[in-house]
Amino acid sequence: MSLKEKLVETASFMKEKGVKEIDFGLILGSGLGELADEIEDAVVISYHEIPHFPVSTVVGHAGQLVYGTLSGKKVLALQGRFHYYEGHSMQTVTYPVRVMAAMKAHSIIVTNACGGVNTTFSPGDLMLITDQINFMGANPLIGANEEEMGPRFPDMSQAYNGDYRNKAKEVAEKHGLHLKEGVYMGFSGPTYETPAEIHMARTLGADAVGMSTVPEVIVAVHSGLKVLGISCITNLAAGMQATLNHEEVVETTERVKTEFKALVKETLAAL
Ligand code: HPA
Repeated sequence: MSLKEKLVETASFMKEKGVKEIDFGLILGSGLGELADEIEDAVVISYHEIPHFPVSTVVGHAGQLVYGTLSGKKVLALQGRFHYYEGHSMQTVTYPVRVMAAMKAHSIIVTNACGGVNTTFSPGDLMLITDQINFMGANPLIGANEEEMGPRFPDMSQAYNGDYRNKAKEVAEKHGLHLKEGVYMGFSGPTYETPAEIHMARTLGADAVGMSTVPEVIVAVHSGLKVLGISCITNLAAGMQATLNHEEVVETTERVKTEFKALVKETLAAL
């Protein structure tokens, strides 16, 4: 079955479930999924019910889609994303973005938990993603290109929409929220990086490192979607603090979730 045919089946199932027009797709990272609980008139669909949808294996990811209204916008939120390190193909990791595009979303907001590489960052900082470096060793667009889905050679010059970034900065300033800015570098994981890899990342121009986001943003650009990306710096990257662990990642997202949710909601209202 072609990607197009799968998408038609997934989209018609979702329409039957009550998912109608969508403005924004939301991809909520580790510990940031609570935002979906604030969606009004919510239609909630478990991933395992959805035809052609993969199932998330990460602890702390709810594994459901939530459709409804947030800040006056129609949103389809992914509460728990798919990672390359789970063993999914890049096509599977990005299938939800394809679904959002197939359901006529015009934009996505991607969020993630990541490690701070920039020495001026602290755990708990929020970072507006200005650009990305694909260091995952794969690209979701490798393979035959279905021309109607997007171009063979997408232009990544402005992957993260400049107007959206400006709006997010204005919102942060207005609400007194501290917002850093920087380049997100995607590694495959599941190991955290070594101190030498972090030294390399910084030398190459990265401000933060993580194990997600990069493939989804590539597919969003391929699909003609505008992108806003916000990272939560949950820890300093390897070599910049004694040890790394997932518990700290979860604790930090827990600590900053109020601020994070406010930033996304207020920005969404302004877009
Ligand atoms: N590295 C990669 N991914 C992460 C990190 C990190 O330090 N923190 C949270 N996700």
